Amino acid sequence: MPFILSIVQRFKNERRNMSLTSRHLLGLQGVPKEDIQLILDTATTFREVLERPIKKVPTLQGKTIVNLFYENSTRTRISFELAQKRLSADTINFSTSTSSAKKGETFKDTVRNIEAMKVDMIVVRHESAGVPQYLTRISKANILNAGDGLHEHPTQGLLDMYSIREKTGSLEGLKVCIVGDVGHSRVALSNIFGLNSMGAKVSVCGPLTMIPVGIEKLGVKIYTDINKAIAENDVLNVLRIQLERKAGQVIPSTREYHNYYGITAERIEKNNKNILILHPGPINRGVEITSEVADGPYQVILDQVTNGVAVRMAVLYLLGTMH
Ligand code: CP
Repeated sequence: MPFILSIVQRFKNERRNMSLTSRHLLGLQGVPKEDIQLILDTATTFREVLERPIKKVPTLQGKTIVNLFYENSTRTRISFELAQKRLSADTINFSTSTSSAKKGETFKDTVRNIEAMKVDMIVVRHESAGVPQYLTRISKANILNAGDGLHEHPTQGLLDMYSIREKTGSLEGLKVCIVGDVGHSRVALSNIFGLNSMGAKVSVCGPLTMIPVGIEKLGVKIYTDINKAIAENDVLNVLRIQLERKAGQVIPSTREYHNYYGITAERIEKNNKNILILHPGPINRGVEITSEVADGPYQVILDQVTNGVAVRMAVLYLLGTMH
């Protein structure tokens, strides 16, 4: 390559290494490996900030962020709010139950009114898939998807990858199995897209009624035997059985599900004592996982929650400082 072209290429690479390719985070589908790497590496820096006596940096001072939650949340909403406060942004929390949405105001009117108050970023959770994408058309703010219907939950996928990488050192070639209610899970899709980009070997395990037809086209292997899945993988990401999304229609009972697919200490000790267990929460104890495992030595469930703040700080910082 001629000298001048190599300089230009190096400049482009250096710029690429420091900023994301999109000003929104709508999902992990199609997000380049370099972007995911940049978010995870930036999160490592913020993870250190969270260990300091004063857990605050001035990075997003002057930015205004609204958390638009049309669906219930504990972890994601608090984690985003905390991440924004740690970055010194001004934050506003919107919840449908106390808003004029209850008086019949349309979603579009609500967003336009909030935007008229000059917000820079919108974090949105909604029961309908595609709402974050729609927001990019009606708002000038940076849009961050905090979970949309059965579509994606990108920051959960990122914090899962961060938590795995923290324990294993690398995602490349790692065997990760997503267990359970895959068909109702936006966490599963974000994990599949993100982990595939990062070079992990992804599989799913569950009764076939919970596994979407054609999922193997996303490059994932299917297990129906949980013992085999535990034996052959390095990591299990155990999904919640989403009873509020009618998961009961695809399994005879939660007791039956637990008998065939529940993650128990006995199954782990028999098949693979080196396995790492993740769960995005909230947990149905005694259904997809026993308390013995959920609180035991193989899991990193609360580490995921702590890492979630650092990962969300990284995403907010990288999007909020883009030019
Ligand atoms: N993991 C997750 O999205 O949890 P919340 O529904 O409590 O935000």
